[in-house]
Amino acid sequence: MHLTREEEDILNGEHGASAAKAMEILAALGKIFNAEKLIPVTSAQISGVSYKTIGDAGLEFLENFAKDGRVRIPSYLNPSGMDLEEWESMGFPKEFARKQMKIIRAYQKMGVEATCTCTPYLIGILPKRGEHIAWSESSAVIFANSALGARTNRESGISALASAITGKTPYFGYHLDENRVAEVVVNVKAKLEDLSDFGALGIYAGAIAKQRVVAFEGIDTVTVDEVKTLGAALAASGAVALFFIKGITDEWRVVGRPERVEFGVGELKRTREELSSSKDAELIAVGCPHCSLEEIREIAEKVRGKKLKRKLWVCTARKIKIKVDKLGLTKIIEDAGGRIVSDTCMVVCPLEDIGFERTAVNSGKAAHYLPSFCKQKVLFGSLKDILK
Ligand code: F3S
Repeated sequence: MHLTREEEDILNGEHGASAAKAMEILAALGKIFNAEKLIPVTSAQISGVSYKTIGDAGLEFLENFAKDGRVRIPSYLNPSGMDLEEWESMGFPKEFARKQMKIIRAYQKMGVEATCTCTPYLIGILPKRGEHIAWSESSAVIFANSALGARTNRESGISALASAITGKTPYFGYHLDENRVAEVVVNVKAKLEDLSDFGALGIYAGAIAKQRVVAFEGIDTVTVDEVKTLGAALAASGAVALFFIKGITDEWRVVGRPERVEFGVGELKRTREELSSSKDAELIAVGCPHCSLEEIREIAEKVRGKKLKRKLWVCTARKIKIKVDKLGLTKIIEDAGGRIVSDTCMVVCPLEDIGFERTAVNSGKAAHYLPSFCKQKVLFGSLKDILK
């Protein structure tokens, strides 16, 4: 892989030890994937923030990196393992919180903004069509590629951090036109009535597509929340990083003889059943990916004036929570007994250590991960049903 003079200098340690290590990581990746060169990226979104997922080894790595590593481009964090302000009242262990705060401080020292959300695109971080970025949260990657037309591979937390520090990424994969081509076409025959149906569709199609690009036919109209939910599920049951929707997404490239599958009423019913393993739950958790303002408004309307018999978490970005507070929606949800949770989510927090065994969700991605990540039995359903 060709490195410019400046990149060679970084590799040789002229910009510090962390920058050299970052360049070494990117050069190795480029070599593995046969990239001809590195290209500049305009932003990095970094996963590997929760102490639950990265542990002491991750913390040590970050603290070492933070000694002289500084980001060169706007860089943002994925959700952490707890609400950074409300962790105590939510019952998070003190030792967990102490380590989590050290992780956040290490990133902040490097200049990464502690946005702690998987939906940066809902808080104004909106790369343009054709813009090259290095994002690592799989649901944000697929949204950026598919809905925004930006270009990113499914980076790991470490490679995204390396890109943040160097401002570069290897030129391969979804940065190239030739790889933005669908090899699986899904004909959607079932009527998708609720976000949970989009999640079920994503789980079904992702398992078939694995790492391939998916093209959907038969979806007439979608909201941003539906696209976000569908993409997150596709990227959870498979390693999908890009999808098209006929007549809706700007990009639509299907060539050759793609695999064709149908998603009818039977597939929808079966997938929904497979995602459920419980008939009840102690916790109702909404916001995977993090809730938009519109979703929170809908939840507030549904619980207004009621007294909830189960705990309710509404997970969202802190910046959205600030708006929601101002609009009075937080108060409506809290009066009913629920809470708005920021900086974290039901999957990357230690749900199992704070006493939950059964969780109800309307997200295909959360339903897919909760049994293995958080030892939860899952009740999967529409927002209306899980709130009921
Ligand atoms: Fe976001 Fe957590 Fe789901 S990071 S996509 S809410 S698993």
